[in-house]
Amino acid sequence: MPDVINLSSRTEGQLPPGLLEFIRAAGELAQQRQQRLYLVGGAVRDLLLGRDNLDIDLVVEGDAIKLAGEIAGDYRAKVTAHPRFGTARLEWKGGRADLATARAESYARPGALPAVQPGTITDDLARRDFTVNAMALELNPRHYGELLDPHGGRRDIAARLVRVLHDLSFTDDATRIWRAIRYEQRLGFRIESATMKLLKRNVNMLSTVSGDRLRHELELVLKEESPEKPLRRAGELGVLGKLHPALRGDDWLAETFALARQDQADPSPQLYLALLAYRLTAPELDSLISCLRLPKASAEILRETPELKKNIRELSMSGLAPSRIFDLLHGHSPTAINALCLASGSPNAAGHCELYTGVLRNVRPSLTGEDLKKMGVPEGPGIKEILLKLREARLDGRVDSKRQEEEMVRGLISGV
Ligand code: CTP
Repeated sequence: MPDVINLSSRTEGQLPPGLLEFIRAAGELAQQRQQRLYLVGGAVRDLLLGRDNLDIDLVVEGDAIKLAGEIAGDYRAKVTAHPRFGTARLEWKGGRADLATARAESYARPGALPAVQPGTITDDLARRDFTVNAMALELNPRHYGELLDPHGGRRDIAARLVRVLHDLSFTDDATRIWRAIRYEQRLGFRIESATMKLLKRNVNMLSTVSGDRLRHELELVLKEESPEKPLRRAGELGVLGKLHPALRGDDWLAETFALARQDQADPSPQLYLALLAYRLTAPELDSLISCLRLPKASAEILRETPELKKNIRELSMSGLAPSRIFDLLHGHSPTAINALCLASGSPNAAGHCELYTGVLRNVRPSLTGEDLKKMGVPEGPGIKEILLKLREARLDGRVDSKRQEEEMVRGLISGV
């Protein structure tokens, strides 16, 4: 019988008091129902690594939705149940936790979602992706803090290795290829050599994964602290190329992502995506968009880049009139312009993009269409024309007050 490892003092040191109190209370309730409750997955891994993680995933050998309902009563928590999956989310003032029924899974075919039936914690851990994610911490009072580690997660954490539980792991679920890369790069681990062989052998299995699931994995990568790291690794392993062969996880990408972080505290995943896709041609973008089944709004942002890039030469020139900068960038989304600004490599172009997003795009004449009508401009396209001329004059500093605008309009009306 292996030694029992108890991590309760680590939980005390690492989890905020509100969450600690919650998991203890949940453990007591589960005990009263004679069910076993566990903290599982990333939270246990990060506890052993000494990394903060407030993502609380609980697994109960029993009905998770019922148990969640009872805990919620004590905690005045909101429960969102997903009966199809036997899971429930609890949200209360001090935090959030996900509760799932322990389950056993089997895969009908590669890439498909697994068939699920209730099981034990041992079944539940055995269906997981990597040894470091396949540990559980018991929460019932008598065994509170005891570690369940049937697959050697602790050993692999010490050796800093990402290792699958069995040879069919990537075949069952090829999104684990992206996950392995993400954990390796985030935690400074190495993909263990047999796992690496399996990964390389199964890269083609990524074609069995739906666009929605691929997009989800890419979004998770783009939410990492330094997404260029997993993207570089994915490039080396031929995984990035499965999204589109023209995508590169190279030095340029790393430098441009780093620049984005210097420029703003927390660049959005959408900005990172626009930079990743920046060097693609319009047809290449179309195929990436359909591979990832990108929603319309995201796809539109990517599709702006080829148009915007046509203006890069002119935007790189010095001494450009503000109204010209406005014309070159008007109608484009802030994210696409931001990507252009970071990717152009031209300080002039970057300066012009910043001037546009910071100032020029908000410039409007003081006079309205109504004012123009009152001044005698006949209704019709002439109004719009004059308003555009007024904005241009405002942008270039030829007028800077309502009075000067009125003078300009009078001049235009009388044909001066
Ligand atoms: N899991 C898995 N296979 C997947 C996705 C998830 O086995 N394709 C399991 C892992 O045990 C993982 C847990 O489900 O630990 C929760 O998944 P997720 O929330 O995506 O991961 P975390 O471990 O919480 O990691 P992260 O820190 O990236 O959120």
